[in-house]
Amino acid sequence: MSYVTASAPGKCILFGEHAVVYGQPAVAVAIDQRIKVKIQPSQTGLWLLDGGDLNFTRNPHIAGLIDRLWADDETLQPLSFQIEGNIPRASGLGSSAALSSATAAALRMAKGRWLNAKGDGSNNNQWSEGYSSSIRETNPYTGSGYRENREEQYAKKEFHLTGPKAVDIDECALLAHSVEADAQNGRASPMDSSTCSHGGIVVISDKREANIDWQYTRKMTTPEGVRTWEIHTMKPPEDDVYLVIGNTGIHAPTSRQVANVAKMLKKNPKRFREIETIGRIARRGIAALIQGDYETVGRTMTENHLMLQSIGVSSPELDNLIKAAAPTALGAKLTGAGGGGCMIALTRDPKLTSDAIELAGGRTLITKLGATGVAIDKHGGIPFCQ
Ligand code: MEV
Repeated sequence: MSYVTASAPGKCILFGEHAVVYGQPAVAVAIDQRIKVKIQPSQTGLWLLDGGDLNFTRNPHIAGLIDRLWADDETLQPLSFQIEGNIPRASGLGSSAALSSATAAALRMAKGRWLNAKGDGSNNNQWSEGYSSSIRETNPYTGSGYRENREEQYAKKEFHLTGPKAVDIDECALLAHSVEADAQNGRASPMDSSTCSHGGIVVISDKREANIDWQYTRKMTTPEGVRTWEIHTMKPPEDDVYLVIGNTGIHAPTSRQVANVAKMLKKNPKRFREIETIGRIARRGIAALIQGDYETVGRTMTENHLMLQSIGVSSPELDNLIKAAAPTALGAKLTGAGGGGCMIALTRDPKLTSDAIELAGGRTLITKLGATGVAIDKHGGIPFCQ
């Protein structure tokens, strides 16, 4: 029986949420909690999700990925998806980006990749199909059309690469970003999708940073104009530091939170100063991370939270959990889009901080900083159809 199981981690943003949508720097870490996606050819000839019909409208991320990777090939049959994991949904922990990245990896693994000549696909110049930050003629964003197949002169389709080498992490990140952008009306930074794909620590900046590994440039047209982000990765800390995640249990859709900030800025453009201040705080946080100075990282996170309160994306429930965590933590802030969802506390004593947050009414998860990114966990009988 053909099947592929892929998984991807959730993420927490240490600095710069919301401001990153406007091109400011930001930092996120992959967390230990993951989403796992299993795909198999459907036995009923219908698209299935967890045993029932797959509703494409209610599952726009999966639908968008099927469109981009599966639908244009008649040899490929409908699939059955099974999804499980321990990332709470709609809570600011990147569950949709993790789902999208794992789904992109599973679909690519199931179908393989056509190359122009025999090769291992490690150089995307060899690809006859696929999406990459460094292939200019591929565009996965629906706003301006998308296609997987490259211009005819580059798409010879002479060798079909199958197995884990067909899967490309940059492609997973790019596709996850494109379906996130669709779901957020064109306003989505690559923060969540790149972190859930690459794992470790991801730093996004408006310029190429020295001292950390630059990966690629990402460009996208948003309703407010063209944005350019430079994506970097950093290794996880060797220090004994943890994040305690406190969940308010309140669901606040990212698209609504992001739209509220856009409305506020449109009404009062002077408030872009607050967005720029978040960018400056993030820049200080990046410097502290590079130095491994976690006391300063924590203090800078707390400072970032004050600015998030100022732009109106916190909530009394988040502030309550942050206050409870503060005495035992190096720093604490909301993480993700806010309005509900989760806060995080950076701490050297995760048990003590977790107890304090739980006493204040939050549900907690504990994670190290910088888990492994998207991965193919198991597979059999690939490619699915040929
Ligand atoms: C959501 O996790 C982070 C936001 O900055 C939105 C985005 O970056 O696309 C609020």
